[in-house]
Amino acid sequence: MLNVVILAAGQGKRMRSDLPKVLHPLAGKPLLAHVLDTAREFPAAKICVVVGRGGEQVRAAFAAPDLAWATQVPQLGTGHAVLQALPQFDAVPMHDAETAGAVPRAPTLILYGDVPLIRAATLRRLIEAAGEGKLALLTAQLDNPHGYGRIVRVDGKVTRIVEEKDADDAERLIHEINTGILVAPGAALARWLPQLGNRNAQGEYYLTDIVALAVAEGMPVVTAHPDAPWETEGINSKAQLAALERIHQRNSAEALMSAGVTLADPARIDVRGELICGRDVSIDVNCVFEGRVVLGDGVRINANCVIQDAVVGAGSIIGPFARLRPGAVLAEDVHVGNFVEVKNSTIAAHSKANHLAYIGDATVGSRVNVGAGTITCNYDGANKHRTVIEDDVFIGSDTQLVAPVTVGRGATLGAGTTLTRDAPPDQLTVSRPKQISIAGWKRPVKQKKA
Ligand code: UD1
Ligand code: CA
Repeated sequence: MLNVVILAAGQGKRMRSDLPKVLHPLAGKPLLAHVLDTAREFPAAKICVVVGRGGEQVRAAFAAPDLAWATQVPQLGTGHAVLQALPQFDAVPMHDAETAGAVPRAPTLILYGDVPLIRAATLRRLIEAAGEGKLALLTAQLDNPHGYGRIVRVDGKVTRIVEEKDADDAERLIHEINTGILVAPGAALARWLPQLGNRNAQGEYYLTDIVALAVAEGMPVVTAHPDAPWETEGINSKAQLAALERIHQRNSAEALMSAGVTLADPARIDVRGELICGRDVSIDVNCVFEGRVVLGDGVRINANCVIQDAVVGAGSIIGPFARLRPGAVLAEDVHVGNFVEVKNSTIAAHSKANHLAYIGDATVGSRVNVGAGTITCNYDGANKHRTVIEDDVFIGSDTQLVAPVTVGRGATLGAGTTLTRDAPPDQLTVSRPKQISIAGWKRPVKQKKA
């Protein structure tokens, strides 16, 4: 078991936004949600998020039974922040009655709400390095360590961390930096944090000062390292947010390609959620996937599609320029072409809507042909109504289906029809006036000014 503290009290001034920093989305999900999802890969006794001003908004966005909250106002440093979380762990049931109600003995993992891409595999190594009774630091070698706390070693052993602003010239030459992420024995943390002082360049209670305290007690201080530098990068600005978004998207594109998906350009796909692909799926450039999207075997997504919370059956062809909105469920071999929008509708096998159509709140059968410019008029200004189009229907171009309405099996709707009543099966239904031609009709001509 583990306790987890996630620091998220920083105001994020440099984001220049009214939204608390950890609520800014990366790949469609708040930064803090990325960290929480990773933390939840470990059996945690409790996860405590430390928030600052605007914390109510963060709490409201994340209310969950496994989460505890602490508020840190004002922000007096990372050590002070972790101290605010400790009381939340006191209620954790201990294994034996003797220690019940005492400070937690479980190791405590410290994470950051604005460091979203930390990987579980890296944390696992850190947690294993810490064991039950060691202080484990996640450190990295950087070519340019400027701005970071430096790991000071004597004879290879970590003795302390010195912040950039407190470091002397020799210490500034150290390239091993503190990522900030660490695991400490719970009881030791509870002992150390109240002892921290703030006599340093920034007048803050530095979490990093626990390292010297551990060394003074003779507790072993060990280190582990991330696989990639982006894992421990934090976000303070919109530019850094965009940079990590690109890294995340590249990682997700690489995962799709290793799973066999063909991407026209791995730099031009955005997955903001979960994209589940069958075999031999191919995706052209500039497609955006949101929520949970399932693509069956052999599906082809042409360029510039936006697909959200939808299911696409095997062999279907989508786009270019198609939009599948939530609740679009397409069976096998369905074609949805350019400027076609499908929302909350099922389309059965072998049906086609290839050009300029809106299919909303509809149940479409098999082998249906939806002509160009067809629109389901699903909304009467107050309520949404369903359109049912049975198997083998042929809908002529520029047809409006004013829901609720049903088109019977095998029916044909003439081009330009505005369907307000059900169309019987197997017949031609057409609502436009009969075509007439007026012989001898003259076009008006422009009158000359007097
Ligand atoms: C900290 C580390 C530094 C490390 C660096 C990695 C300390 C003293 N220094 O420095 O060794 O190299 O991170 O990025 O820990 N926070 C709070 N409350 C506070 C202060 C900070 O919640 O009172 C949160 C911030 O929201 C942020 C994180 O802690 O998510 C780090 O704070 P920041 O001020 O950026 O730390 P650094 O000075 O960069
Ligand atoms: Ca018309």
